[in-house]
Amino acid sequence: MRQKMVAGNWKMNKNFQEAEQMFETLAELIKDNKPEEAEIVVCPPFPYLELAMDMLQESGIGIGAQNCYPKDFGAFTGEVSAAMLYSLGVQYCIIGHSERRSNFKEDHAFLAEKVKATLVNGIIPIFCCGELLPEREKGHYFQIVEKQLKESLFFLSAIEFSKVIIAYEPVWAIGTGVNASPEQAQEMHHYIRQLIRKNYGEDFADETVILYGGSCTSTNARALFENPDVDGGLIGGASLKPEDFLAIANSF
Ligand code: PGA
Repeated sequence: MRQKMVAGNWKMNKNFQEAEQMFETLAELIKDNKPEEAEIVVCPPFPYLELAMDMLQESGIGIGAQNCYPKDFGAFTGEVSAAMLYSLGVQYCIIGHSERRSNFKEDHAFLAEKVKATLVNGIIPIFCCGELLPEREKGHYFQIVEKQLKESLFFLSAIEFSKVIIAYEPVWAIGTGVNASPEQAQEMHHYIRQLIRKNYGEDFADETVILYGGSCTSTNARALFENPDVDGGLIGGASLKPEDFLAIANSF
């Protein structure tokens, strides 16, 4: 049985005081709303990670970063490494979010380095993939996602790959209020699982957690999570409202 999971990607939102308030509310709410099935992960901005560890870990919430740099230490002004995250106790790191691919021009090879760095340092990567709207409209979406996975993940050994979480996030659904339909999500998740089967075999395909992301809310989460190949969600906007976020985590 695969682990169900709901991870919150705060992106670049909330000041320190607001973050503290959010952690407090989450810790309080989860006492009465702890999901039976799903693991909950919160990915706040870097400056709030330590506070998140202090305030949330007791409630069983996992902590993730939104990015990392592939080198461990050195002259890389402004960057944060997977080694640093690990030393803080961070368990997860989002890699390859479409906003990093487009705004910061992160390519397949660079993302492969980041994935490797997280695994070497004991951090679980949540690897994002997904097509742009024109790619969907032209019917190229399977090839796009296949290339993203092939270039940045499928070089891993089976043991390394077994730690990876994949998040399918169609770019046209991110922050738009237009989620992929449950059928579209299932179709792509099934396709991704087939690719894993081809590369790593049946057991790895069955075990890999594949999240859906893109305008997932407490209203549509259940219909999306009901699909056999959708194991949960990577939640942006709705993760900024603790009540909504926990409602999503309780939608299995
Ligand atoms: P959204 O973002 O839920 O606000 O669409 C998802 C994401 O970018 O991870």
